[in-house]
Amino acid sequence: MRDLPARLRELLLETGYTLDGVRERLGTVAATALAREETTPALRATRDGDPLGTLIRLWWLGAPVEAPDWLPVDPLVEAGLLAVQDGLVSAKVHLQPWETGGYVVSDRKVRPGDPALREDHVVGAGGASANLAQLVSRRPAGRVLDLGTGCGVQVLHLAERAREIVATDVNRRALRMARLSWALSGIDGVDARQGSLFEPVEGERFDLVVSNPPFVISPRGRFTYRESGFEADGFCRDLVRLAPRFLSQGGTCQLLANWLHVEGEDWRDRVGGWLAGTGCDGWVVQRDVQDPAEYAELWLRDAAEQGTPRYRELYDDWLGWFEAMKVTGIGFGWITLHDSGSLDPVVRVEELGQRVELPVGGYVDEVLASVGVAHRLTDEELLGARLVLAEGVVEERTGPPGAEDPSRIVLRQTRGLCRTVRVGTVEAALAGVCDGDYPLGPLLAAIAELTDQDASDLRVRAPEALRPLIAEGFFHISTA
Ligand SMILES: C[S@@+](CC[C@H](N)C(=O)[O-])C[C@H]1O[C@@H](n2cnc3c(N)ncnc32)[C@H](O)[C@@H]1O
Repeated sequence: MRDLPARLRELLLETGYTLDGVRERLGTVAATALAREETTPALRATRDGDPLGTLIRLWWLGAPVEAPDWLPVDPLVEAGLLAVQDGLVSAKVHLQPWETGGYVVSDRKVRPGDPALREDHVVGAGGASANLAQLVSRRPAGRVLDLGTGCGVQVLHLAERAREIVATDVNRRALRMARLSWALSGIDGVDARQGSLFEPVEGERFDLVVSNPPFVISPRGRFTYRESGFEADGFCRDLVRLAPRFLSQGGTCQLLANWLHVEGEDWRDRVGGWLAGTGCDGWVVQRDVQDPAEYAELWLRDAAEQGTPRYRELYDDWLGWFEAMKVTGIGFGWITLHDSGSLDPVVRVEELGQRVELPVGGYVDEVLASVGVAHRLTDEELLGARLVLAEGVVEERTGPPGAEDPSRIVLRQTRGLCRTVRVGTVEAALAGVCDGDYPLGPLLAAIAELTDQDASDLRVRAPEALRPLIAEGFFHISTA
């Protein structure tokens, strides 16, 4: 059949096999049960034999269906998407609608009781894929590299704002599925290349490098989709250290990563050390930490290995390996590198446990810029700069009822990273007046007079107090 992907895409859309269509058909109960790997409610919700229910059963739930006469079964069998046995049609792949409006093709999901995963399993788009996609800068990009493209999902997010996309993967099967994902999503022109790390793009430069890498830290590389075979967290470390060589001037690299917490070592030093010497500005965010047992369980569950005869042995092996390395925990997070061109690069390493405004990619460039400005502005330049309170910052005052002065003043961001910070009366006063009209110096002089403080002393103290507030995005420097 000519142009099978285009015809199939049309059919999927006509049938309503879209993210909204699937959500609506499954409803909350079946969808949440599926998140717990329970398929029974979803199978009940799709038992009518109508086209949408049939496609959900086939490509989302992986259940065999009666051969539908409205589906071009033979060409789809030939293309490796379906198989026919005993008059029943079953899926050879997982084919899911994605939030961009496109489709993602991967290997079938494994659930408890399924046969063991193959080593070169191609994982479908999931939570980590969505996390990276929401983190990536929304700026239009010229040349983009998606390293470890897998099912190709990041390309679906990047296609509209990139001039040129190179997607690499060490797994040849992944590239085949990625090509199908792109074709079904109406995306063409992606340059797909096979190879490890930056090998396939040696000598090239990119404006944006993104990677949801095989970050899982385990005793041995059993599954390519999540484990690189590099020692411990060495793959993410090497990715970070090598990336700057492949960035164009002003380029950005964004990735998800896992890192070890080792007894006697601050994780900030470990991960900060990966970025030191890269010449790039950097932002490392730890979003979660798991203890070794939680971590091993998570990934054994991910490969549906709970309840298998090898479960206990694999679990014990994993824990023994962590113990030998004195691992106390495993951090999950984001790493962003930006080639700012500065001779004095800055790296911010922090923990962010709170809910943040999504997508972070909508303001990640601003976050990097604020960290850079706060680091590089001299005190004199800061005193001469016009500060603006960031949009959405509110003030909270608490103290004993009736007291003249609050005992605690907090500035809270209702936008972006939703940070909170406890401040003194001078910073609070500045938050009330900083609208970009006057430089900081004269504002401090006025505050000194009003609060009966020594003006020159305030000029010395204020930059030190304000620098972190600028780095954390409570104040911006006006460029107007
Ligand atoms: C977690 S999956 C990410 C897939 C997809 N990009 C996403 O966001 O969902 C990691 C991918 O990295 C690939 N990979 C594993 N080792 C690699 C290596 N040494 N070099 C490049 N890619 C590798 C795997 O085959 C897999 O497709």
